[in-house]
Amino acid sequence: MVELARYRPERCIIVIFGASGDLTQRKLAPALYNLAREDLLPEGTVLVGYGRTPMTDEAFRNRLGESISRFSRTQPIETDVWETLAGRVFYQQGAYDEAEGYRHLHRRMEDMDGRLGTGGNRVFYLSVPPVVVVPILHNLSAAGSLARRRQCDEDSTCYLRVVFEKPFGHDLGSARSLNAEIDRLLEESQVFRMDHYLGKETVQNIGVLRFANSIFEHVWKSESVRWVRVTVAETLGMEGRGGYFDSTGILRDILQNHVLQLLTLVTMEPPASLEADAVRDEKVKVLRCLRRLEGHEVRRSVARGQYGRGTINGQQVPAYREEEGVDPHSDTETFVGLRTYIDNWRWAGVPIYLCAGKRLAEGLVEVSVEFKEVPGILFGAVHGRQLKPNRLTVRIQPNEGVSLRFASKVPGLGLELRNVEMDFPYGSAFPAASPEAYERLLLDVMGGNSALFARRDEVELAWEFASGILEAWQKEPPPDFPNYAPGTWGPIPSEQFFAEHTSYAAPSPDSP
Ligand SMILES: NC(=O)c1ccc[n+]([C@@H]2O[C@H](COP(=O)([O-])OP(=O)(O)OC[C@H]3O[C@@H](n4cnc5c(N)ncnc54)[C@H](OP(=O)(O)O)[C@@H]3O)[C@@H](O)[C@H]2O)c1
Repeated sequence: MVELARYRPERCIIVIFGASGDLTQRKLAPALYNLAREDLLPEGTVLVGYGRTPMTDEAFRNRLGESISRFSRTQPIETDVWETLAGRVFYQQGAYDEAEGYRHLHRRMEDMDGRLGTGGNRVFYLSVPPVVVVPILHNLSAAGSLARRRQCDEDSTCYLRVVFEKPFGHDLGSARSLNAEIDRLLEESQVFRMDHYLGKETVQNIGVLRFANSIFEHVWKSESVRWVRVTVAETLGMEGRGGYFDSTGILRDILQNHVLQLLTLVTMEPPASLEADAVRDEKVKVLRCLRRLEGHEVRRSVARGQYGRGTINGQQVPAYREEEGVDPHSDTETFVGLRTYIDNWRWAGVPIYLCAGKRLAEGLVEVSVEFKEVPGILFGAVHGRQLKPNRLTVRIQPNEGVSLRFASKVPGLGLELRNVEMDFPYGSAFPAASPEAYERLLLDVMGGNSALFARRDEVELAWEFASGILEAWQKEPPPDFPNYAPGTWGPIPSEQFFAEHTSYAAPSPDSP
């Protein structure tokens, strides 16, 4: 929500730890290239890859060049842009838990400050699995590369920021201890906890839709809203991530972060300003009021599932337990659907449905707000029977956009009513290609704007919510997995499940 022109970050050295990995190739390198192409990357910015894989500077450059050719959203690659950027790309080989590599890195960065004018500015991007995050912080600190306040020789305004990829902890305890470790070494303003969903254009548009239009705010409350639903659904299965996913599950991997982040944006109060802490204060208030589901309530209000073998889009797919890297007896959930409430004045009594799953009927990320039905006085039993209530849907992906369902008279002499859909497709309304989430987020890190990053209390409150469910699950044997077929909307809810107030409404391509 911040205007790009508002700041132009100072050039810096970006060090990517785990630079041989998938995220660097697919997202980070293409994002940096596209920022350079748009003239948004501060001129003279240096990129250093760090990792155990032995590579020369030249080999790393070639590797990034190939990744950019393959994954950049803009094609063909502009050779002059890439060559200018490539001239400032370097690689430092080193272990994550040994001091030597960090000492070399420190010396090289100091040398670059002198030769390339990076002025002591640093962004450390931890694009590594969680096990090596704390060792990296400790070793950077021991090498003198990490500091709460950067003492710069010539310029007192130089900055040091650290980006943490998800997952941020495995549960409440591990998130708290990671935060405590970070707190020992860094100021909160130096910490950028990544949730790349927040960098998506359509997610940022949620705030604009709500607070730059006057018509929605009046009905955005329990008096008018029947329910709110956030869905993150994939048709894909494990795609080679089975080993990681099997120790994680969909609740930790998707619901605890992406789904709750979307929910807070849709339900928060208008912030006092667009400053990072003003926005995050409001998001935190939602998480504080989000009703915890614990003990017996979990059985009543949370459904967990795991997909079996079956067909999706005409193709035979393996069961979750048959996926590569997955324990054949695994009880890890690949679906979670739940109902809870936000116990504050605005949302009291409005069911909040959260759903995330793999191998579901459709791949979509969307937020829906369904409004209350009109009294059936004028268009009652006869004409209104087929009508569905108004529903506003924000489609995050695919087909990014917003649609509103409402009732209309079918042309003719009789009085027949039907639901119709008013649709705003982002892509055709604004033909210019949207930047990738990582472009926006990297620029924000360099500019020191943390509005689109999770604050410490936000992450811990989200884990508190998830932990109540995880603990209840640990005490109860899981349902008889697998319990849903690929290409469906997950396990069939039990009789009690979602029975209160409204029936569970899985998103379906139902006619308007
Ligand atoms: N890929 C994505 O699209 C994506 C999306 C969202 C979040 N993330 C998160 O971003 C981080 C990086 O993702 P990624 O897909 O690039 O991960 P990755 O390919 O599994 O790992 C990145 C690099 O870390 C090093 N590494 C891997 N396993 C290690 C281990 N057990 N101990 C020490 N070093 C290890 C390897 O580099 P060296 O062997 O050269 O040291 C590897 O190339 C992860 O935390 C991931 O959860 C990724």
